[in-house]
Amino acid sequence: MAIRIIREEGDEILKKRSREVEKIDDKILELIQDMIETMHKLNGVGLAAVQVGVLKRIVVIDIYEEGVPPFILINPEIIKTKGEQTVEEGCLSFPNKFAKVVRPKELVVRALNEKGEKIEIKAKDLLAQAVSHEVDHLNGELFIDKIIPGTLEIVTPEKD
Ligand code: NI
Repeated sequence: MAIRIIREEGDEILKKRSREVEKIDDKILELIQDMIETMHKLNGVGLAAVQVGVLKRIVVIDIYEEGVPPFILINPEIIKTKGEQTVEEGCLSFPNKFAKVVRPKELVVRALNEKGEKIEIKAKDLLAQAVSHEVDHLNGELFIDKIIPGTLEIVTPEKD
């Protein structure tokens, strides 16, 4: 496993659409493990493959709830949404920016897991927010383009 380099604001790859995964081979499995390790290292709630420079429809999410392992979603598709929530949001590709956005309050997402099995997850609150944010990444959509005007906060990083 390895920590991958995060593509940050200004990198044009972030605006590209990712392609479907056709075969879950060893290279994909290694990518997924690296994505989880990278997300954890940076205390992120989610990471899309495009953020480590790979244009494939893969996202990992961890809401850090006890007993809940990271979610691995391959070729995810949001099939239903319900309600709205206005939430504070950030993104590992925009390490110093935070803003409020509107996300679905609840949603249902269909995907494949790392074994290639079809899964369906009902998500709400933080998990729904994370799924919505990460699936947006796969379509080249960034949270910064959908923030509620006037809510952007730019944080100066603390030095170690
Ligand atoms: Ni993001």
